[in-house]
Amino acid sequence: MSKLTTLHEFIVAKQKDFPFASGELSRLLSDIALAAKIVSNDVRKAGLVDHILGAQGGQNVQGEEQQKLDVVADEAFIRAFENGGEVCGIASEENDDYLAFSSEAAQKGNYVVLFDPLDGSSNIDVNVSIGTIFSIYRRISPNGTPATLADMLQTGDQQVAAGYVLYGSSTILVYSTGKGVNGFTLDPAIGEFFLSHPDMKMPEEGRLYSINEGNLQDFNPTLRAYLDYCQSDQNQTGKPYSGRYIGSLVADFHRNLIKGGIYIYPTVPSAPQGRLRLLYECNPLAFIAEQAGGLATDGQQRILAIKPSQLHQRVGFYIGSKKMVEKAMGN
Ligand code: AHG
Ligand code: MN
Ligand code: MN
Repeated sequence: MSKLTTLHEFIVAKQKDFPFASGELSRLLSDIALAAKIVSNDVRKAGLVDHILGAQGGQNVQGEEQQKLDVVADEAFIRAFENGGEVCGIASEENDDYLAFSSEAAQKGNYVVLFDPLDGSSNIDVNVSIGTIFSIYRRISPNGTPATLADMLQTGDQQVAAGYVLYGSSTILVYSTGKGVNGFTLDPAIGEFFLSHPDMKMPEEGRLYSINEGNLQDFNPTLRAYLDYCQSDQNQTGKPYSGRYIGSLVADFHRNLIKGGIYIYPTVPSAPQGRLRLLYECNPLAFIAEQAGGLATDGQQRILAIKPSQLHQRVGFYIGSKKMVEKAMGN
């Protein structure tokens, strides 16, 4: 039997990639793994526990209905970050404003984390895969002071690490610190993540496309032409591609990362700036995609090159296999 590598062993071994590493980022990744296990456990009980399943009754800052599990996940991750001592502040899709932690210990933390605690929340009540997406930056503000808005509004290229947790048929944590992408599957019996997907690479081409085709009438001519291409036998495979749309970006992305494919959420009249959030969803997944050899753009430019101006900024999003994204953009 080959030796199993736990997430913890992997994080410690990889710390050597960064010559002056103090272990702070390693501890932060371990905090994320702990919160992921807590949320995974809550997700697995979702159908059993009445007070978790169903709408919470509130709306988040963007006017979307908050599901209870959204709030549970948000709190679990915030608690892990606040108590860890590596993070001075966070911004979350579920909260109106960013949060600068007040304790002296937290203000000595060198990192900020931006995250979507529960992606695909409309899928909670119907037992379909959901996830958590996170993005990590080094703070710009001086150590020992409260985190600032400028810490949060850095371009995606400045990310030091990013990843996601997918609560699917199993729970998997995929992350990158800028030296490739690795995936770890949770063994729920012993509560340990094991390296299951080393050095993940996104195929350059694929034959899966993920888009909400209900919006077809509103798509721009370039995108409509690309969908015609996907659905025809004139594409590079000689037969129509397959459409796959889960409605949880993180799950659609994960499948496309492994099998090859493209996910598109363009700007449309009902979402004129796009549907997906630059800081919590697009930047972290774009970082993973590029690290795995894929590409992510807003239809014109690289996602990771966009300078954010607001916390909850939305963008059009094209992400996946490099050649597919280039073709979808009309190149
Ligand atoms: P969230 O649950 O965090 O609000 O994100 C939902 C996102 C994404 O996961 C999904 O692909 C997309 O919104 C679905 O939007 P449509 O229902 O408009 O297709
Ligand atoms: Mn989301
Ligand atoms: Mn969400």
